[in-house]
Amino acid sequence: MSIEPILASLFPDTATLHERGVSVGGVDLRELAATYGTPLFVYDEETLRARCREAAGLFDDGVAFASKSFLCGAMARLAYEEGLCVDVATGGELDIVLRSGVPARRIIMHGNNKSKEEIADAMAAGVHRLVVDNFDEIDQLSEMVSLAKPLNALVRVTPGVEAHTHEYVRTGQEDTKFGFSVSNGDARRAISMLRAMPGLQLHGVHAHIGSQIFEVAGFRESMSVLGEFTRDDDFDELCIGGGLGVAYVAGEMAPSIKKWAESMRHAARESGLRPDLRLLAEPGRAIVAQAGVTIYSVGVVKPVTQRTYMAVDGGMSDNPRPVLYGSGYEAFDVDLPLAPRPQVVRLVGKHCESGDVLIDEAYFPAETKAGSLVATPVTGAYGYSMASNYNRVPRPAVVFVQDGHARVVLRRETFDDLARLEV
Ligand code: LLP
Repeated sequence: MSIEPILASLFPDTATLHERGVSVGGVDLRELAATYGTPLFVYDEETLRARCREAAGLFDDGVAFASKSFLCGAMARLAYEEGLCVDVATGGELDIVLRSGVPARRIIMHGNNKSKEEIADAMAAGVHRLVVDNFDEIDQLSEMVSLAKPLNALVRVTPGVEAHTHEYVRTGQEDTKFGFSVSNGDARRAISMLRAMPGLQLHGVHAHIGSQIFEVAGFRESMSVLGEFTRDDDFDELCIGGGLGVAYVAGEMAPSIKKWAESMRHAARESGLRPDLRLLAEPGRAIVAQAGVTIYSVGVVKPVTQRTYMAVDGGMSDNPRPVLYGSGYEAFDVDLPLAPRPQVVRLVGKHCESGDVLIDEAYFPAETKAGSLVATPVTGAYGYSMASNYNRVPRPAVVFVQDGHARVVLRRETFDDLARLEV
């Protein structure tokens, strides 16, 4: 980071940075803040649709949007309209996606600890695929699946690949709670058991090696393990999961979905996989991260001996990623996006703990002060979806913008919403 103006490449595709103000989807961010209040999540619908189309066009039919990265009815419908399936990991995600009108035949059900009810709901709805994770689940399925109650499934395997990313979001290594190990024979045993189950059709294997990965090498390695492992199985599909990284701050470089997909196809060919095998993936972050911007109002600017704290009206409740993973973000003054940023502050939220930091060292123009609107780009993934009500802070509203129009897709939470569980 530096005092240079913020990089335009961190913004959604339709963003235009002016001397005074930023517009996204043809709408000025200041106008959005005035109309809908702050904190506010703004998503550029064109960016969302373009990323969905890119994934749908480059992988085969059945490629899915990982809804855990950002889920609401409007997002599920958008992904479906653009040709993607929707991957859900819990009954709660399944429920929202079904309510949104996405047909069950376009939903993929995950979970490392699916309850009997979650499996029953997924089966009753008729999901496209259920991804089987463990032997207890196989026992459970053997009581629920029959020729009269069939199920289409994939089996989740761990290829034993160490992805270069934060350990909390790494999943492909042997020591993990997800899936069946290829190397110790569990995956092979699981496949035999599932193939012997009447009514269950096993279409192939699924692996997910982690998230926020910048190097395609890890994915390639995973593909070659899977290729080797399934070469004689005659499966009709193979899913390499999600995990493609995105740039959050200046200096980071992430492969495009196109580059990712092409290198997966290449690796599949090199592994000797049949060319008609459906090659699938489940991107989440790569679809939604860059489409989103969070606008905040600055309430307080407080110099102390060591530094200056700038406090905004949200914080770790709408973006827990800096606290959880030490993730970096950048920020800009919504009024002055092209101005140099000599003012160095620690950007913090309004929560009652010192850890409530959004950006350790954020850069702003000298003019940014209490009352200013500031924003963080690349907040479309794992922000709203991991938002909490810590300190009874209501969750922000979410608006989609396109062609000069804004529409609220999730309204701002109220104190009444927060009180509704009291008995
Ligand atoms: N498929 C499976 C089976 C997954 O577990 C995940 C993410 C994805 C797909 C989508 O991964 P993506 O393309 O979004 O990287 N909360 C963390 C990320 C956790 C990812 C969990 N699984 C974060 O904020 O960085």
